[in-house]
Amino acid sequence: MSERVLVVGAGAVGQVFAHHLARGGAEVALLVKPAHEAALREGMTLYRLRRRGPLRERFEGYRILTAPSQAAGTRWDQVYSAVSSAALRPATWFAELARATGDATVVFLQPNIDDRAIATTYADPQRLVDGMIGFIAYHSPLPGVTDDRDRDGGAPGMAFWLPPGSPSRFAGDELRTTAVIDALRRGGLPASRMDPSSFAAVTPFANAVLYACIATLQAAGWSLAALADDRWLERLGAVATESLTIVSDHLQLGIPLGARLVTNPLVLRAALRLAPAVVPLPLEPYLRAHFTKVGPQMRLGLAAYAQLGAAAGLPTDALAQLCAAIDPALQPAGSPPLAGPVPLC
Ligand SMILES: NC(=O)c1ccc[n+]([C@@H]2O[C@H](COP(=O)([O-])OP(=O)(O)OC[C@H]3O[C@@H](n4cnc5c(N)ncnc54)[C@H](OP(=O)(O)O)[C@@H]3O)[C@@H](O)[C@H]2O)c1
Repeated sequence: MSERVLVVGAGAVGQVFAHHLARGGAEVALLVKPAHEAALREGMTLYRLRRRGPLRERFEGYRILTAPSQAAGTRWDQVYSAVSSAALRPATWFAELARATGDATVVFLQPNIDDRAIATTYADPQRLVDGMIGFIAYHSPLPGVTDDRDRDGGAPGMAFWLPPGSPSRFAGDELRTTAVIDALRRGGLPASRMDPSSFAAVTPFANAVLYACIATLQAAGWSLAALADDRWLERLGAVATESLTIVSDHLQLGIPLGARLVTNPLVLRAALRLAPAVVPLPLEPYLRAHFTKVGPQMRLGLAAYAQLGAAAGLPTDALAQLCAAIDPALQPAGSPPLAGPVPLC
């Protein structure tokens, strides 16, 4: 019997998961905000990015829910929470969804250091399978990009790239994790298992490095060439060192060697030179569009490091300076101010 799967949030990541789960034979439903329902009733167009050019794929025939309460009364096997960390605050909808979906596995994809505590307040930790997304997805065309190399000259759609050797990784109860991985692999989405202690020891550090890189890139005007300058790489290194130390202190875990290595200026400069040539998408516009879209999530993540650092008496100067540099641009025009005290960011 096929799995019954609910994907929450039909943005970039949600569409890619939903599409592959359906390709693998799962019965897929989407839980979306009412504002997105009409467009999704038309079906989705996705562009699979490959070195030899994009492949257009259509996805239709899914059920659409517009409120967590509508999930009640159906036996769900898996629920994918494909929204940003900012969407968990407040978590009223998550609490309602956790109640409405019984014992279904919750595939929890939010990256910020304090997200899991929110999830386990409302869902039995046994139900959670933690996930780290291994692909890139974005709304195409990207702002300011006029060549159609990521969408085959076609209509707008969701472009996605599955980088070789970069499966999405999942950790949790063995049976539940295996079921998630099987469902994704059947649909052609690379997925692999990590043991929960390795996942917990790696992903918070990877996210700290990512935020240090992206926030510095933003402060450098979203220019990869500018970021390669010594001045910016030095700031990036200082922010990464502070963030990694804070994460290490908070989780009482050692900083993985890989996390220190990737923030080494030599390694970073080489990566910055190579990356645009290797990835089959307009990298700089993607980074700018994606991390502006999830800017509130990154800002919350950096603020959490700063708050944890201050509480532990650890240095936070570089973090505070970077937050001050990116603060106005991180708040998307017209969006409400972030809730709660955010003293440094
Ligand atoms: N895209 C990537 O390449 C990528 C790669 C790795 C990791 N990630 C991570 O994946 C997460 C999602 O990113 P994304 O790129 O998919 O963002 P996205 O395109 O903005 O998709 C999120 C979707 O969830 C919707 N949403 C928010 N709250 C909701 C709720 N309570 N119920 C139902 N729908 C809700 C949003 O609607 P509104 O826009 O109307 O709020 C949006 O459509 C982020 O944590 C991101 O950092 C993304």
